[in-house]
Amino acid sequence: METPSYARDKQLVGGAWEAPGYIKHRRLIGWIADMVALCKPDSVHWCDGSQEEYDQLCNLLVEKGTFIRLNDKLRPNSFLARSDPSDVARMEDRTFICSLSRTEAGPTNNWVEPRQMHKTLNKLFDGCMRGRTMYVIPFSMGPLGSHISYIGVQLSDSAYVAVNMRIMTRMGRAVYDVLGEDGQFVPCMHSVGMPLEPGQQDVPWPCSKDEKYIVHFPEERSIWSYGSGYGGNALLGKKCFALRIASNIARDEGWMAEHMLIMGVESPQGEKTYVAAAFPSACGKTNFAMLIPPPAFEGWKVTTVGDDIAWIKLNSKDKKLHAINPEAGFFGVAPGTNVKTNPNAMATISRNTIFTNVALTPEGDVWWEGMTDTPPANLIDWQGQPWTPDCGRKAAHPNARFTVPASQCPSIDPRWEDPEGVPIDAFIFGGRRSTVAPLVFQAFNWPYGVYFAATMGSEMTAAAVGKIGEVRRDPFAMLPFAGYHMASYINHWLKIGRSIPNPPRIFLVNWFRKDENGNYLWPGFGENMRVLKWIVERAHTRAAGLEMALGRVPVYEDLDWRGLENFTREDFERVMSVDRELWKNEILSHEELFIKLYDRLPKEMLYVRGLLLSSLWSEPEWVDRQE
Ligand code: OXD
Ligand code: MN
Repeated sequence: METPSYARDKQLVGGAWEAPGYIKHRRLIGWIADMVALCKPDSVHWCDGSQEEYDQLCNLLVEKGTFIRLNDKLRPNSFLARSDPSDVARMEDRTFICSLSRTEAGPTNNWVEPRQMHKTLNKLFDGCMRGRTMYVIPFSMGPLGSHISYIGVQLSDSAYVAVNMRIMTRMGRAVYDVLGEDGQFVPCMHSVGMPLEPGQQDVPWPCSKDEKYIVHFPEERSIWSYGSGYGGNALLGKKCFALRIASNIARDEGWMAEHMLIMGVESPQGEKTYVAAAFPSACGKTNFAMLIPPPAFEGWKVTTVGDDIAWIKLNSKDKKLHAINPEAGFFGVAPGTNVKTNPNAMATISRNTIFTNVALTPEGDVWWEGMTDTPPANLIDWQGQPWTPDCGRKAAHPNARFTVPASQCPSIDPRWEDPEGVPIDAFIFGGRRSTVAPLVFQAFNWPYGVYFAATMGSEMTAAAVGKIGEVRRDPFAMLPFAGYHMASYINHWLKIGRSIPNPPRIFLVNWFRKDENGNYLWPGFGENMRVLKWIVERAHTRAAGLEMALGRVPVYEDLDWRGLENFTREDFERVMSVDRELWKNEILSHEELFIKLYDRLPKEMLYVRGLLLSSLWSEPEWVDRQE
């Protein structure tokens, strides 16, 4: 293969940029040389993924003021980072799907013509790494070398990104062995967008205040991200690759890339059932994936395969859908996490953890809203300011996060790295709805399930920049993550259902229903086991389920109430209630989404909608007539 143009012109190959001898992939070296010439970093660091390298980079981040080393006795080998206050969440309005045609991206994605976007990006990236080091980060999504895994190489001028990627993916030198001389990889280009002039002092959290772009080229299978150093904007293996690009690959190859946790449920008899569940960002996926059953459920066990992303493929042997977690770590929301809501997460993050935007205690440990009832005295907030409970500000940012290796989780499933994945028997979908949606129901069949998943509504959270609390339609919890036309995505789900003999059952849940005073009606967390048990039993066609307007539901007697006797039949009926008038309006509001997706909307959606309306209609007048 020819030496690439930039490399030849600027004599980069064989110079200071020379790739280590163990990289045999000429196209990869050529791309890196091109990107070095474009971004003009001061140096290139080829990440090997070793512990020594991780420690070195963490020390460097401490030196630069990006990291604060936490008290090694309280939180061994852990760090706190504080981001720039303008760079705290995914930026959906700066996220683009630049497919060749606008129609392909669909109406729910931002789109710019790819050549024009490349022009914009080339300008932005030209010289963007001046004064900085470019990190070459090779990573595998999925177990290294497995036939279901995919490889990416991220170039980034952020050491924070490099250390986070080592936790979140299988990152390091072994990736090059799998890649060989001509393996496929997804090029992932990232810059914080703040070049340093000679002598210019760096800041702890460099980013571009006014220009941010998170761009995907589905046909090229490439990603370019500029201006942000935070989470899904910058750790490109996660949302950008494992969801937006992977959803395109999955559509072409006949599998599914989903915003789902994967968990195992083991009965006292040792029967293991795996379920996958989709909830929008910051709706408790991590908590649910690590659920600890209430004491009365002795012998029941929940194990964790993943907390955010599932790649799901048909297994040729058992003809079931099998899921893998393509990630290697958890990037979880910290606020609200405590020993009651998620003891497994608290144990997981006891060491080797990177915290971002949480508060700091005087002892050098971390704190966030909801960790304890009473905040410790003399906290420093996520922006480095002294904090008191009455100061009117949050101590931790609502989207503060922890990055931690999944292997540290006490509930990690023994098969979490099984390259064949785990067989899925049920899909669960759930939004955050204070009204309307009942605690649980089972869709009558696959198309009904797809309908409810496609029209799922959720009140917005702090995970993305936007209007918190407003209900938006979030089909499959994939609104910000589907890398192509949402209606084609719905159709892909219908196609998958048609192609398997016995597809998993589909369930809808809502843990967030509130009463008229704003109090949650359902205790949630570990108590969700009661609902989960019914789901598992239904998935094996053992539990009863009453046919109602929306689907099959448990009656009070169908759930196991041992240990929660103070939750009465009336409480259950309230949290399960389906108000026909509210539901008619709800279904009416699905129209808005359907009109948006009209050009490609599968006809099944309209038929199911009609059937739902007819079953929700109130009783005919002769029912009321007195004899
Ligand atoms: C996440 C998200 O970070 O969904 O997982 O925003
Ligand atoms: Mn997520």
